[in-house]
Amino acid sequence: MNILFLGAPGSGKGTQSKNIENKFNIPQISTGDLLRAETSSGSEMGQELKRIMSSGQFVSDDIVLQLVSKKISSSECENGFILDGFPRNLSQASSLDELLKSLELSIEYVFLIDVPTDLIIKRCVGRITCDTCGKIENEFFSDFREGDKCGDGVFVKRVDDNEETVSNRLKVYSEQTEPIINFYKKKGVLHRIIGGEDGPQRLTDEIISIIKN
Ligand code: AP5
Ligand code: MG
Repeated sequence: MNILFLGAPGSGKGTQSKNIENKFNIPQISTGDLLRAETSSGSEMGQELKRIMSSGQFVSDDIVLQLVSKKISSSECENGFILDGFPRNLSQASSLDELLKSLELSIEYVFLIDVPTDLIIKRCVGRITCDTCGKIENEFFSDFREGDKCGDGVFVKRVDDNEETVSNRLKVYSEQTEPIINFYKKKGVLHRIIGGEDGPQRLTDEIISIIKN
């Protein structure tokens, strides 16, 4: 089973991917997480990626395609995968089609998480992530704060989670990513999930029920 999550920054792609990963035991492939791992390596390429991501722009298609293709072709993904944050423009969507065709695979479900913009800013600005297990929490909606312990890890903030960069990421999303909604609608695999203020579990239940039907 191959799944794809689409949605604006902070819409909850990572949160839902992790819930679905736990439920169906298929791995999440988050290009954002893979790129952030690269930035913490301290390499020259890592420094350049950090600069691009801090501004809210996209990194080059070649880099992300290389990361995704390596993962999808690995034994880790033999029972399926969950794509989170890729593809993000029409060119990446066509490259993904070609890659999947060459592996005789396809995407069965595309979930578009649709959340009002005013909630998006609050979700990003308040987001904290465990630097070890990747658990995602929010300072506005939970008792966890930046610097708190999470198992063996610590909750940290992302460099791109400030109001200015979030506004820029939203602009880039509407210009470059929204056009791929139609690309998947035409394939007949798109499901729109409306997110609001009632927490992530209701969305997870809706997604699971679509998959089970
Ligand atoms: P990436 O890391 O993918 O960021 P993004 O797309 O902006 O999405 P986010 O991770 O910010 O949000 P999310 O939808 O995962 O929300 P989350 O679940 O965390 O990419 C970062 C950067 O990397 C890009 O800007 C770009 O530079 C680069 N990049 C990545 N992929 C690329 C690609 N393919 N091509 C080129 N460049 C690429 O939730 C957010 C918060 O809300 C959390 O605090 C969470 O607890 C809370 N929350 C979630 N759901 C709910 C809910 N239902 N109710 C209440 N709170 C909720
Ligand atoms: Mg994410």
